[in-house]
Amino acid sequence: MTQGMFELPLYAYAFVCFLALFCLWRWKRNPLNAINTAGGPSVPLLSYIGALRFQRHSHEMMLEGYRKYGRSVFKVAMPDQWLVCLNGPELIDQVRKAPESVMSSSEGLLFLTQLTHYLPLETFKDPYHSAVIRERLNRRLDDVLPSMMDELRIVCDELLPPKQGDPVALPGRKVILDIVARAVSRTFVGLPYCRKTSYLDAAVTFTLDVIKSRFILTLFPEIMKGFVARFIARGPANNIRRMAGLIGPLVRERIDLMEQHAKDGSELPDDMLQWLLEEGSKRNDLTVEMAATRLQLLNFAALHTSSSSLVHALFHILADPDLVPTLREEARAALEAHGWTRGALEKMPKMDSFLKESQRLNGINVLGMSRRAMQDIVLADGTFIPAGTLCVVPSYPPHHDEETYDGADDFKPFRFLDSKEAGSTRQQFVNTSDEFMAFGRGKHACPGRFFAAMELKVILSYLLMNYDMELQDKSTGRPANVHFGITILPSPSAVVVFKKR
Ligand code: HEM
Repeated sequence: MTQGMFELPLYAYAFVCFLALFCLWRWKRNPLNAINTAGGPSVPLLSYIGALRFQRHSHEMMLEGYRKYGRSVFKVAMPDQWLVCLNGPELIDQVRKAPESVMSSSEGLLFLTQLTHYLPLETFKDPYHSAVIRERLNRRLDDVLPSMMDELRIVCDELLPPKQGDPVALPGRKVILDIVARAVSRTFVGLPYCRKTSYLDAAVTFTLDVIKSRFILTLFPEIMKGFVARFIARGPANNIRRMAGLIGPLVRERIDLMEQHAKDGSELPDDMLQWLLEEGSKRNDLTVEMAATRLQLLNFAALHTSSSSLVHALFHILADPDLVPTLREEARAALEAHGWTRGALEKMPKMDSFLKESQRLNGINVLGMSRRAMQDIVLADGTFIPAGTLCVVPSYPPHHDEETYDGADDFKPFRFLDSKEAGSTRQQFVNTSDEFMAFGRGKHACPGRFFAAMELKVILSYLLMNYDMELQDKSTGRPANVHFGITILPSPSAVVVFKKR
């Protein structure tokens, strides 16, 4: 009986042999074979060892590659494709100067997240939501700040203890995400939507839906991904549809207001949704679906990035209570002199250096730049990259490079103030360089970083001025980060005790 199970017809064996030979032939012909592999084997099937490791240890694999192959090119395995890592000033320069037609940033981000399967082609062929940040949001930061402050006071009174008395213990990551979501949404959609639970839930869960469906899609070969995205891993598509249902009435109201404005110049709202609609109208792209899609892309870019960064920083403060008086005193002096303005934030160099150091050591993920090769490319060092390859410039290894950062694995909050170049704009949190790529680099460096830096400084200063905070469990120091794929998350289980001052 047992023997019979293995008596397959001859053609089945022939088919298996043919398949194995075909895979070997394809592998032999793959130009990426010429590139060194870090963190695991490179041969077919065994490369899945590296891909498995990537799920929890991508940072270590990249450090291994960086240390072994120097500032050159290496690749690491993801479950569905190779991630080609470009390092060193010459290659970074080539990536940041390459036009979209050669190395595309929007396609890079969308292929990395697999959002290509959920979004209409136009959203990444014409990513005007990024232009809206550069041309509208970044010019209105002074105007945006008062309403952000207003929302911050209200949400903190709702979630944290409103008066002196009993302390309240809350999961740190969740409460900071709730605060960030409210403060950002006030700028993105204004009142009353920024306070609607259903809107906030859709805005926040989009990122989680993308991460979940991305994980599922990577388990399937390229040829099946479209089908899986359509019929199995439908999270992001359902979420965008839900968002369209929620903001539909608001978008239609805004379109009416825009028609009225065209007739009599009447006032228009001043928020991200409005700017998106105005850009959309110039392009004949004025629909509820378009607004929901682009808004969710911006929520994806803005919410978890800022809140993770804030929690990473907060956990450093809570693990080192000596930091509190220094940062609090600096904030008090600046706020007393300038009120809650951008002028005050500019007078907080210690806070600026502290946030930059937290971002250097933790960051939101291990990557600085993500690009997709749109055509065959020969890199400056002669490496051949075939069209369609996902290329990245990792940020984790240069951020942990002892040659650049003395005691690179240590947290030194005022490192950027103590450096030789202290006081220069190069040392500022929002400034990007080959050594600091938490916001990317070059013309596609995060356009939202000025808004993000303002938001982080305002929220952290507000918390320091109004609350005493400590970790519920002080026995283990700073709660350990969690690595998942390329993402670096602050501990999900750490509980923070808040007391009104
Ligand atoms: C601390 C918070 C943030 C971090 C660490 C961060 C980091 C990044 C990184 C690493 C990139 C990729 C750059 C590249 O590939 O060259 C990026 C792109 C982007 N970010 Fe941010 N970001 C943050 C907050 C924000 C916010 C608040 C917004 C919106 C207001 C935003 C909007 C964008 C957009 C639209 C892009 C794509 C830019 C392009 O392709 O031209 N980000 N961000």
